[in-house]
Amino acid sequence: MKRALGVCYYPEHWPEAQWAQDAARMRDLGLSWVRIGEFAWSRIEPRPGRLNFGWLDRAVACLGGAGLQVVLGTPTATPPRWMLERHPDMLAHDAQGRPRGFGSRRHYCFSHDGYRKEAVRITRILAERYGENPHVAAWQTDNEYGCHDTTRSYSPAARQGFRDWLRRKYGEVEELNQAWGNVFWSMDYADFDDIGLPNLTVTEPNPAHLLDFHRFSSDQVVAFNRAQAEVLRACSPAPLIHNYMGRITDFDHHEVAADLDIAAWDSYPLGFLSDRLEAEPEHKARFLRQGDPDFQAFHHDLYRGMGRRGWWVMEQQPGPVNWAPYNPAPLPGMVRLWSWEAFAHGAQAVCYFRWRQAPFAQEQMHAGLRRPDDAPSPAWEEVQALAKEIAGLDEVEATAAPAALIFDYRSAWAWEVQPQGTDFDYFRLCFAFYRAMRRVGLSIDILPPDCDNLSAYRMVAAPGLATLRPELAAALEAFEGSALLGPRFNAKTANMAIPATLPPALDWLNCRVAQVESLPPGSRIPLAEGGAFVHWFEHLEGDARVMERDSQDRPAVVAAGKRRYLGGWPDEEALARMLRDLCTAEGIETLELPDGLRLRDCGGYRFAFNYAPEPVRWGDLSLPPAGVHWQKRPG
Ligand code: GAL
Repeated sequence: MKRALGVCYYPEHWPEAQWAQDAARMRDLGLSWVRIGEFAWSRIEPRPGRLNFGWLDRAVACLGGAGLQVVLGTPTATPPRWMLERHPDMLAHDAQGRPRGFGSRRHYCFSHDGYRKEAVRITRILAERYGENPHVAAWQTDNEYGCHDTTRSYSPAARQGFRDWLRRKYGEVEELNQAWGNVFWSMDYADFDDIGLPNLTVTEPNPAHLLDFHRFSSDQVVAFNRAQAEVLRACSPAPLIHNYMGRITDFDHHEVAADLDIAAWDSYPLGFLSDRLEAEPEHKARFLRQGDPDFQAFHHDLYRGMGRRGWWVMEQQPGPVNWAPYNPAPLPGMVRLWSWEAFAHGAQAVCYFRWRQAPFAQEQMHAGLRRPDDAPSPAWEEVQALAKEIAGLDEVEATAAPAALIFDYRSAWAWEVQPQGTDFDYFRLCFAFYRAMRRVGLSIDILPPDCDNLSAYRMVAAPGLATLRPELAAALEAFEGSALLGPRFNAKTANMAIPATLPPALDWLNCRVAQVESLPPGSRIPLAEGGAFVHWFEHLEGDARVMERDSQDRPAVVAAGKRRYLGGWPDEEALARMLRDLCTAEGIETLELPDGLRLRDCGGYRFAFNYAPEPVRWGDLSLPPAGVHWQKRPG
């Protein structure tokens, strides 16, 4: 595992006279990567067809000349104003059917063919110009697909694209009627051209209609990205990257990643804690300046699992951001901790967003490594020290973790379409499992839902997997370790219907989910052995071996061999107990960690991170707030 640091830089924001000094300072700070260009379309092509490459040529030469490697972004997240003259109907529409306006970014509709051609055109122009440039060592496609709720568009272009997609999928409209169950409420269609988008219906649309729309919308992102990737591949040997986000599930990231080399993500721990996490106010207060202790790690493991040639943090928060409801400053040491944590999970590079805080426009309140007056910001010294530290630790080879969690974007859409209870959110469920696994000290790999081999693991969890795919079904049958499946496992067919034999519809498990209940906050179904089910409870039927019962003696967990089915959403206590049992059965060490301390085993090293606002002690280890420690593991 090679470790490098980098930064996001916008030469077009600063006088050219400042570039050389910036570049020299980046190099002196110990950075080796610099990402540029991803929002620069209006400066590259100020008028249609009139290209202005002088400044970008000089910027690449200046940064490269200073010894930095450039990640060049395709600027397709920010089509310039003139693009609207050429394609007035290219704007994405919101769910109310209103076009989204120009004046920020990401205003394009993924389904607009004219815009897609423009995106390919500008990508080709860049690829032909810089594809062989020795300083351009990687490409980033677009920027944060789906950011600002832009995966799903309800525009006329999307409607046409959806109809074509349905025609290709079903062939005959009668097939679609059958698959969706359109007989219900007389929703049968006579022609694909009669089908609308699933917005603005009087009450909820048919869930199969909605799920197909989500699948279609995801496919449009995949196709949009693929069109750029093909052009870049043809012109450049440099690896292709996209920067994904935290807790965004609107498109299938595994499918986008299959066309790229490196999976990167943008890590804003304090922003995410504030606006992207369900947690008690006490938890948010406790971790206000450190971020949630598991949120970053979850995404590191998720994206590591999909990067074909590695993974990066492309944007790391270096100070307060501007976009969350509240924007505190990190505790001193956290920028270093977040960076080390990424490396401990196998990152090849961590890049900070951004070099210098911009005194103008939307993100003027967002910190950078340097202040608007060009003085160093508080993160500067941490990064400086970190650059020396990472050079001092030898490379470590990441090995498979003992435990794995399956994460499936399509399940997120299924449960979004039909949550059945307001609190049933797929990410939330998976994250609860992930957190519980971390709290007992496990290192975890996150695997895709079409994973066909689990033999590297001793324990696998697959909560909420809506539809089991044949590859994973076979891998689970062959699996010799312990599996924890459910709740809501294989609970829907591919057409979003209840399986004929009732879920979980597994040949090897004599168990049927006869009825489900969703539970409001505060309501619990206590389990006989401690803890409770919350949010969700399933009435299980059949003669599978009962492993646990609820306090009314109803089956709560059943099993066939070492594969267990969980008939509810376990609270922290129940989940910790169940995980400890499984680990014991598999001979996996479990630990009692103080609150806020997290571990990660990577190669021959064990890393420890203190997210708590107070010092922690654990055995011989004592760590201050924001403390990081690593040591060689015995054996
Ligand atoms: C990211 C985005 C950057 C910048 C940053 C601010 O989501 O990719 O361009 O806006 O957030 O935190």
